[in-house]
Order: sequence, then C-alpha cells, then structure tokens
Amino acid sequence: MNWLLEKVQPNSTMGMTASVDFFDSLGVLLLQKGQMITEGISDLLQKREVFVWRKQENITNPAEKVKTFPKDVYLKLVGSLWGIYHEARLIQPEQIEKTVVLVETILKELKPINVYLNLDVVRLDLEKFKQHDYGTFVHSVNVALLATITGMRMGFKEKRLRYLTLGALLHDLGKLNVPKEILNKPGSLKDEEFVIMKQHSLMGVEMLKNTRLLPSVLATVKEHHERWNGRGYPDGLIGNNIDMNAQIIAVCDVYEALTANRPYRKGLPPYHALEMIIAWSGKDFNPKVVQAFRESLILYPENAIVTLNTKEIGVVVAVSLQMPTRPLLRLLFDNNGRFLNREIYVDLMQDLTRFIGRVEFNEVG
Ligand SMILES: [Fe+2]
Repeated sequence: MNWLLEKVQPNSTMGMTASVDFFDSLGVLLLQKGQMITEGISDLLQKREVFVWRKQENITNPAEKVKTFPKDVYLKLVGSLWGIYHEARLIQPEQIEKTVVLVETILKELKPINVYLNLDVVRLDLEKFKQHDYGTFVHSVNVALLATITGMRMGFKEKRLRYLTLGALLHDLGKLNVPKEILNKPGSLKDEEFVIMKQHSLMGVEMLKNTRLLPSVLATVKEHHERWNGRGYPDGLIGNNIDMNAQIIAVCDVYEALTANRPYRKGLPPYHALEMIIAWSGKDFNPKVVQAFRESLILYPENAIVTLNTKEIGVVVAVSLQMPTRPLLRLLFDNNGRFLNREIYVDLMQDLTRFIGRVEFNEVG
C-alpha cells in the first residue's frame, strides 16, 4: 500500500483557493483542489480533522510489488492437466507424479505472494479451446492458484501448501464421470440430475483409490462441497470437522464458479463475487478462511487502469485490506472520454453507485 491519508493543518485563509484536495478521516472529499475557501468552509476546516492522500516513497521491499501470473505458464498448466487426466477413469500413481510437477510450478510462480491472478484475461484466450472440453481443467487450475495464495496467507509451510495445491488440482476429477449433458447443461439442474452431479466428490475419491495418496488429500477431494454450517454434501459435516484444505477449496471453488463465463451466462465481476463470498462468511464458509482469501486476492492492483460503470476511467491509487472490492481511484477520463487535468478522486468505499467494470494491468517494475 503506497498511499495513505495523512492528517494536515490546511491553509484555510478565506479568499484563497485550496492547494490540494482535502478529505476527512474516511477519505470522503471535503474540499476540492482549486475551490474557493469561503467563510463557512474556513470555519469547517478549523473544526474538523482534515487529511490529504500522501504517497509513501520509501517502499524498498520488492515483495510489495505486484506481478501478474504469466499467461504462458498458465496455459501450459491447463494443457498439462488436461493431458494427464482427460481420458482418466482409474488414476495411477504415475499420473499423480506428473501432477506434482505442476504443483511445483504453481508454488514457484506464486512465491512472491503479491501475484495478480488475472483470470479473466486468461479465460478469454481459452475460448478457442472450447472443443476440447477444457472446462473442468481450467476451473481446477484456477482453484489451485486461488487456494495456494490463500494457504500462503494463512501461513502454511511448504509441505502443507503442496498438499493443498495438489488437492485443489484434483478436487473435481470426479466430474469426468458425470455425463456431459448434465455437466455442461445450461441453467439449473433437475433434482435427479443434481443427485448425479453431487456424486462427483465421492467419484473423485473412488478414481484415486490406487494412487497411494495421503488420506488428507483424499479428504480434501471428498469434502470440498461440505459447508461450515453443515448444509453441504456428501456427509453434512460441520465447522472444523471438515478438512481444512477442503474448507479453503470450497471458498475458491465458489468464487471461481461465480466469476467464470459460461456459454449461457457471463460471469460476475470479481468485486461482486468477492462481496458474495464475504456475505456467506460464517454461514457457508469458515470466517478465517474468507478473511485470508480476501486478503490474498489482489482484485485491483495499484496503478491498474479501471473502467467504471459510468464509463469514467481511473487509476487505482489505494486499496484497503478491509474492503478490497472498493479501492480509491484517481479519475483520468470523464464519461465522454475527455482527459481530466485536475486531480479528482473517487472513493468507491463511499460512492456505492459507481463500480468497476473492467481492469487493465501491466506488470509493474
Ligand atoms: Fe466440485
């Protein structure tokens, strides 16, 4: 975070204009740069605590920098996973050995924890692979990336992370045994179809029975649809009776599914999906896991260029850990595409009518 609100004593001489934008302690704009300071405004500024946004220049820790997950590595991961499993019925130990190589690749790429997973951009590229029925494999790689950054945030050490990432790559294997008409059916499933779909977590365990995988990895596969409140399947387990890795994968699985584009519907914007996950914290999901998930997910990297629903374009200048879905922006272009040469800030935490539609981000430094 390289921007913060700093308390100042504003020069509030009547008849002068404001030298910078002034905010209150929550980042709400009180007075815009260039605005005339009248008697009333001068009084107000005297009585209130006044802040300005200040950039911290002393960032030397390279871990603070955000990088994007490399697209070529991502495509290779999906292709490899598809190659290992697409015709699988009963999984053999050699297939797990090949999957462990993918686990190592993921851990290596995510080592500096600040990685921006631009799943949308990658998904667009994968449109052309539709004929290969990549869906389950794209989903599994995405969930593995999300689960790994969450596990890192929760302080998992190397060995534990490896099992988490491996479990995430394998969690939906049982879907390969679900008839395609059910798996790819547009819209909601009929009750009897849902019964078949729900068998995929147990089918996954069955497919892995010859692999000598640790029981904990099998538990992850089996329990990733269990819910914190006991309303999941297959066993209706409650709270921490559910395998911890399965709890993490549950959150990442739902987030991934909500944001994914389907042939019959567009995925939700990431901020919307994350707000839904946060709303389900303590009901469907372990609050600790949701907290780690939202703190590890970089939705809007600083310096990312974003387009708002209003068609205004801005740059992300600060994101709060508490509310990562609603960053502070500096507007660059108005809704008619005119460049703004004044400093105008929009705080999405305060302004709930605006939201981010599109993000563009190139790796920084
Ligand atoms: Fe699943």
